[in-house]
Amino acid sequence: MEITTFDFEEHGDERGILIALEENRNIPFTIRRCYFMYNTQPGISRGFHAHKTLKQVLICVRGSCKISLDNGTEKATVVLDRPNRGLYLSSDIWRVMHDFSDDAVLMVLADQLYDESDYIRDYGAFLSWVAERGKREGVPEEDPEKGIGG
Ligand code: TYD
Repeated sequence: MEITTFDFEEHGDERGILIALEENRNIPFTIRRCYFMYNTQPGISRGFHAHKTLKQVLICVRGSCKISLDNGTEKATVVLDRPNRGLYLSSDIWRVMHDFSDDAVLMVLADQLYDESDYIRDYGAFLSWVAERGKREGVPEEDPEKGIGG
């Protein structure tokens, strides 16, 4: 599956490193929310949901964690283990965050405020949601009487 990651520019000098994140520049949307997770307990996995419309960029600003992604047909796992790496997640991806290091701080930038109604928390409902994407987005169905290309 296609995975979009960003390697943010590091402004480094003898004092250390600084990374700047800016909406519609190196973050591909308007940033309306930022939240972060830390002190994640050993063996814990979080997430287990997709979104209807939300876009996000995940950055593990300290430590490391893994993000398992599932678009309904393909799965992949991405390791986030440096603060200059961002993982872009479009809405209709089932995601699980896991294998957090003790010191992990996982920061998320999002293009919308928190809205529970945007969540799909049931995996079966997620599969139905992606299967019906064409209909929702108004992709015309083939007319069986005309046949393909007719
Ligand atoms: P939850 O959705 O369980 O987190 P995860 O997807 O990582 O498993 O969120 C934990 C709690 O935090 C839940 O009560 C909802 C709340 N929350 C907010 O209030 N605002 C937010 O932006 C987010 C992401 C969660």
